Amino acid sequence: MDAHPILIVGDETDMRSALLHALDGSGYPVETASTGFEALDKFKKDEFSLVITDVNMAQMSGFEVLEKIKKMSSEIPVVLITADGSVDNAVEAMKKGASDYILRPFSHEIIQLAVRKATKNRNGRAKISFQNGYLRRDQKSKRIITQDPKLINILKLAENVARSNATILIQGESGTGKEMVASYIHHHSSQNDGPYVAVNCASLPDGLAESELFGHEKGSFTGAVNRKIGKFELANRGTIVLDEISEMPMPIQAKLLRALQERIIDRVGGSRPVPIDVRVIAISNIDVKKAVKEGKFREDLYYRLNVIPIIIPPLRRRSGDIPLLADHFLRKYGSNNGTGVKKMSDSTISTLLNLEWRGNVRELENTVQRAILLADGEVISPEHLFLGEAESEEKDSVRIRPGLSVKEMERKLIFMTLKDVNENRTHAAEMLGISIRTLRNKLHEYKEGEV
Ligand SMILES: Nc1ncnc2c1ncn2[C@@H]1O[C@H](COP(=O)(O)OP(=O)(O)OP(=O)(O)O)[C@@H](O)[C@H]1O
Ligand SMILES: [Mg+2]
Repeated sequence: MDAHPILIVGDETDMRSALLHALDGSGYPVETASTGFEALDKFKKDEFSLVITDVNMAQMSGFEVLEKIKKMSSEIPVVLITADGSVDNAVEAMKKGASDYILRPFSHEIIQLAVRKATKNRNGRAKISFQNGYLRRDQKSKRIITQDPKLINILKLAENVARSNATILIQGESGTGKEMVASYIHHHSSQNDGPYVAVNCASLPDGLAESELFGHEKGSFTGAVNRKIGKFELANRGTIVLDEISEMPMPIQAKLLRALQERIIDRVGGSRPVPIDVRVIAISNIDVKKAVKEGKFREDLYYRLNVIPIIIPPLRRRSGDIPLLADHFLRKYGSNNGTGVKKMSDSTISTLLNLEWRGNVRELENTVQRAILLADGEVISPEHLFLGEAESEEKDSVRIRPGLSVKEMERKLIFMTLKDVNENRTHAAEMLGISIRTLRNKLHEYKEGEV
């Protein structure tokens, strides 16, 4: 079957030729139109596989082109190209049925991928609605980049629940973007001008966890020389994020339950409860339900926290995000070393697509950052993704030999494991079969040993 052509619409010659260039070798013939009117004329006469249009055009905007084309043929994928990545525009594009939303400047790879995706969706068995190409941004929180329908739906849900005061439990593997989503919720909530207080439950100091969270009155225990305002009170009229919630010490869990149920807290040594108005977001990278089954987490608290469950899919389940994120990180890290943004070769992209990404987006971010430094020229090729890893693995590997102390081996094993999970302590502790507290104590011990 001969493929129908791709129609490029844009009133800038440069952009049209950049697209022509990007589509060279795509297997599709390409036609161009320099205005929306011309495009619609062509569209009425001929059949096309796909339309790629600039948004910002003098005579008829890309949104209008999209709308008119969709009226004529709702099935045809339309990709929008824009220099403006605002949420409103992305949402509008999506509502109008755009299949992708690409930011300028674009790489050839991104265009090629968008074409592959859009045409595959169209020709493939599954008829899915074209909701890819989504980018969400607001001034304060970092941009969450995704084109994955699952994650897009999650973000929509997050936006809706942000307006309520409901408690939210965000779960997902290490590095999937849980903290980003927590801050996204805060920024979309009605308390977004209020404080955003993040607490890592795994690093609450032993014995002082209660006072950290709920505060204490002067003289309530030895060392309490002043009154201390706890994190909950600090977060009043804003959001408190309880990261690594499964590590919350048991005695504190009961107090947290009370805070959630009654919306009041007790300062340590305080004589009267303090009312609080806080949105609570809990985060975990392990399945909290499992912690409940193992008796490490209160079931009633779990249900209280899990009013709105949000589960972020791992990167390998949304591999369409890989090129998009890679491109994003290329721009993020590529533009500050004066060499201009580097490009990835096709084989680099396909290598990225085939990796497992156990460290998810964080690992991808680190990989791209490193590759930029390792690539001398303009183009990043597959060897730049891994160079040095084989060596360092050799260097890092624990070689068991007589004379090596158990302590030393333990230390090496712990550091290797931490490195493998991108320094995520909860994850590392789980893999090592020790508690997070034990891990913390050991790390502390090694640090002291160093000085
Ligand atoms: N969709 C995304 N778009 C852009 N950057 C992202 C995205 N998801 C994650 N990142 C980046 O990846 C890194 C990890 O994200 P984040 O800290 O939110 O993950 P996490 O799930 O909280 O990880 P951990 O479980 O290790 O605490 C951050 O640098 C973040 O900016
Ligand atoms: Mg995190």
